[in-house]
Amino acid sequence: MYEAFFSILKRLNPEFTHHLGMLVVRFAGTRLGSLVLRSDKALSPAMRVMTLGAAFESPIGLAAGFDKNAVAIRGFHTLGFGHVEVGTVTPLPQPGNETPRLFRLPDDFALINRMGFNNDGVEAIAARLKKVRARGGTLPMIGVNIGKNKATPQDRAGDDYVACTKALAQYADYLVVNVSSPNTPGLRGLQERSSLEPILTAVLQHADDTPVLVKIAPDLGDEAIAEVVELVCDLGLAGIVAVNTTISREGLATSPGDVSAMGEGGLSGKPLSQRSLEVLTLIRQTLPREYCVISVGGVFTGDDAQRLLEQGATLVQAYTGFVYRGPFFARKVLEEMGGSR
Ligand SMILES: Cc1cc2nc3c(=O)[nH]c(=O)nc-3n(C[C@H](O)[C@H](O)[C@H](O)COP(=O)(O)O)c2cc1C
Repeated sequence: MYEAFFSILKRLNPEFTHHLGMLVVRFAGTRLGSLVLRSDKALSPAMRVMTLGAAFESPIGLAAGFDKNAVAIRGFHTLGFGHVEVGTVTPLPQPGNETPRLFRLPDDFALINRMGFNNDGVEAIAARLKKVRARGGTLPMIGVNIGKNKATPQDRAGDDYVACTKALAQYADYLVVNVSSPNTPGLRGLQERSSLEPILTAVLQHADDTPVLVKIAPDLGDEAIAEVVELVCDLGLAGIVAVNTTISREGLATSPGDVSAMGEGGLSGKPLSQRSLEVLTLIRQTLPREYCVISVGGVFTGDDAQRLLEQGATLVQAYTGFVYRGPFFARKVLEEMGGSR
């Protein structure tokens, strides 16, 4: 049914459709919504994952960037996600880049975005998370992905990550230091050890007991990935989120003219799945299993998720798969994995 509906949705502006989708998810988070939309299938206990000092009901989570402002956490849980990574959150609210900034590539089951960390800022989002926690009830695991404001000079980036950590660590089941979005000028340069080490050290100092992970780009070379892994071990981070969107446009079925008309931004979805698997494999060559690796990029089906788990992922996330397969994406994936009956 969603396929038919999607053929209508895909004619609409992608960002408008996103807001429409968020209304549905927010409804799913209400008492009435959860009654109407919750699954009648039970999740198998075999799906449970112990990691980051907690029990995740399943390995399937929502990747950062969908619920940037932490407004629909309960709804995503109703729809079957075991964890939700909110953000990226920056210290000050910011509008992000000019629209249009989100594009669909249906022939590739992909998206290109240059959102640019549009978000409500740390104060509003911390208040929202506090309220969510205070209300209690069943919640998914909540990750909080943090970044820097566009206007913050590169050499002060660490201050932004620390400000976010101080305000948000207490509400997060885990924190993710995002140094890999292609849409904030200079951000990805922070992945170099000389920049990354002081940032991660400072974040760890203020995170108390909240596990800290770092999110990396698929465009890093193998050596650079090995260096991040080494840093994770040296500093005692909890793990790595791999991967963010790519700046590559290789191997797309969409015509080069259409692709270049979309302009700059990060590519996500199916074209990312091969590189995501490669990066995971590379990470696991040296990173022991007790470290958490959240694998993300091109997950559309239960088989996709299973492949990553077999290759050493601790948890798996998706964004673009959810856009293309619709609101019951997580449930379908869990069913395809044999994880719900
Ligand atoms: C529209 C859009 C916005 C995104 N925003 C963020 C973000 O704010 N922070 C972040 O770490 N990743 C962000 N991502 C990247 C996703 O979290 C994920 O790493 C990437 O899309 C690959 O997964 P996928 O192929 O399942 O989409 C965004 C992705 C999309 C498509």
